[in-house]
Amino acid sequence: MELENSLLKQDTLHLEGKDVEIKSETFEKLMFLYSAALREVETKINILKDELKYLYNYTLIDHITTRIKKPESILNKMKKKQCNINYQSLIEEISDIAGIRIICPLKDDIFSVINLIKSYPEFKVLKEKDYITKPKKSGYSSYHLIIDVPVNVAGKMIYVKVEIQVRTMAMDFWASLEHDIKYKTNKKVSKKISKELIECAKLINKLDVQMSNMV
Ligand code: GTP
Ligand code: MG
Repeated sequence: MELENSLLKQDTLHLEGKDVEIKSETFEKLMFLYSAALREVETKINILKDELKYLYNYTLIDHITTRIKKPESILNKMKKKQCNINYQSLIEEISDIAGIRIICPLKDDIFSVINLIKSYPEFKVLKEKDYITKPKKSGYSSYHLIIDVPVNVAGKMIYVKVEIQVRTMAMDFWASLEHDIKYKTNKKVSKKISKELIECAKLINKLDVQMSNMV
């Protein structure tokens, strides 16, 4: 119940006419760990981006975005996955609380980024999904990694999961729009719209291949 309250932000209690704040220290500490792990990864990827730009004048990475999953999204996902609502299952079952998205100019750059990330000895790859070679039925295309990132807290090394999504600018354009139209809202979109989205994804892929061939 403690976790559910934290996730729902029911952190005030009405007691004898007064609002008493309940601070869920465990939840806050846990979110601090995810944010620390995310910053570790973001810094390393930014250094990689700058290194390639300044040393080789190559733009391997266009830009990076990061986000920490909102408490209500964490709770919705746990309920959808029928997890027990406790810290143990949050840590074990939800692997995208900390997320980083790496946007590359070209399709081939995605594989270079993935290989470079895999070469970092401190990152442990837990899961890998290649939706570039084999896009999802929806048309979605990206390369996903779940990695364990070491975070040093009070002299102790703790491993924290971070989800990395790598895609081209064109794939990002498609995914962002499709996310709003269909994926996130869980709205029942018509078969016609779904088909059109798949068609657009195919066009995006054609564009990515054509652009790669020109460079
Ligand atoms: P989730 O439970 O949604 O996180 O999916 P999953 O555990 O099956 O993992 P998967 O690697 O397939 O998806 C992880 C993330 O990729 C999602 O949270 C989305 O950010 C993104 N994603 C996956 N499929 C789609 C899709 O069809 N469209 C869009 N726009 N994004 C997607
Ligand atoms: Mg997700």
